[in-house]
Amino acid sequence: MTEGLGALAGRRIVVGVSGSIAAYKAVTLVRMLAERGAVVDVAMTAAAGRFVGRLTFESLTHRPVLDDVFELDADQQIAHIELAEAADAIVLAPATANLLGELASGLVGDAVTAIACASRAPVIVAPAMDAGMWTHPATQRNVATLREFGYLIVEPEVGELASGLTGIGRLAEPASIIEAVERLFARAGDLEGLHVVVSAGGTREPLDPVRFIGNRSSGKMGAALAEAARDRGAAVTLIAGSMSVSPPRGVTVVDATTAQAMREAVLRAAPNADILVMAAAVADFAPARASQHKIKRSGENLQIELVPNPDIVAEVGEMPDDVRPFIIGFAAESDDLEANAAAKLRDKGLDLIVGNVVGGPFDAIGSDENKVTVFAAEGAITDWPMLPKRQVAERLWDLIGDRYGQMRPQADATAPSGRRRRRQ
Ligand code: CTP
Repeated sequence: MTEGLGALAGRRIVVGVSGSIAAYKAVTLVRMLAERGAVVDVAMTAAAGRFVGRLTFESLTHRPVLDDVFELDADQQIAHIELAEAADAIVLAPATANLLGELASGLVGDAVTAIACASRAPVIVAPAMDAGMWTHPATQRNVATLREFGYLIVEPEVGELASGLTGIGRLAEPASIIEAVERLFARAGDLEGLHVVVSAGGTREPLDPVRFIGNRSSGKMGAALAEAARDRGAAVTLIAGSMSVSPPRGVTVVDATTAQAMREAVLRAAPNADILVMAAAVADFAPARASQHKIKRSGENLQIELVPNPDIVAEVGEMPDDVRPFIIGFAAESDDLEANAAAKLRDKGLDLIVGNVVGGPFDAIGSDENKVTVFAAEGAITDWPMLPKRQVAERLWDLIGDRYGQMRPQADATAPSGRRRRRQ
């Protein structure tokens, strides 16, 4: 890395340009990336070439532009695979509606889609199109799919469009796109050396071999937290209750579908963890007995005795300081969020609690978005809008990382891993 140039110096960045009038802004973007010391390769679709010539980009980057998926590089290697592997980040700007559709459905027909599909580097997408196209359900579905892939979307802005009309769809300013790239690199690796345990999903308390008492938790928030922690370099254990999404790749998954199983898994993992995020919706009660046989219809009322489940996170909160991880709980409340979250923070011995309102017009359960307020001992410490869960996860890790860092004793601050205890 070159000293003094910031987060982009020495980074290999591929800028993929597709065929929008906004392609001219990609010229500024490429110049700004190069000025910040990044090594920039440009890939173009054929349509992009109708707006900006490859010579423009080659003059700025001093590197060949890739616009042919069949091209071999100077060493006779497949150029788009070489670039895909070398990239530290891929920035698709402008991304047309067509490009979003191709990426979302895995259609690889040109150099830009080929690099994005072949690479494991993070992908930032800055869409640009007509307002009608941006708000069309197909585009919105494609954007949601790309978010699920973990792509970071730099939302288009409201302004004058190529049609002369004003609306949403204008490519974000190059400075905003650069900021997104810088943020990505600034946080990459900030959880390196830490072991993070995340619980996610709902528990299912069996009544008989086919029935259970459960809840609607999808596990999406916990999965997003596990994935974001993985991307920041943490070793992640995901303790998975019942989830409607697949766990992210590259994390250790421990299945724990009942509250008892989750308790065992969490208590086993917690003493070796630096941070525990308890995002799971643990059932508060379980049937006193699960019938060995399927309960038959009898025509009579059925009485089921429910017994309380242990409070898992509270047990971790009581662990001795030398083994207790930094603990983040969740609180979904239908009333009086602040008071209830504050009580849970205190009673369960948590460091932070993430609160969200349920039962109102917006239902976070199962949704891809969430609006949360984070509480610490001093009260509410965030004011975030409704955001995709992956972005909530990123913001939470920024915050958890800061708080955890402040509490870590200085002498231990450079230790690669292991216990870093504090308790105020
Ligand atoms: N939790 C837990 N074990 C339980 C219940 C909850 O570890 N048996 C954790 C959840 O994972 C969450 C936090 O405690 O991080 C708050 O969960 P919540 O269900 O809101 O709290 P409860 O104590 O169950 O309170 P309520 O009466 O509001 O359901």
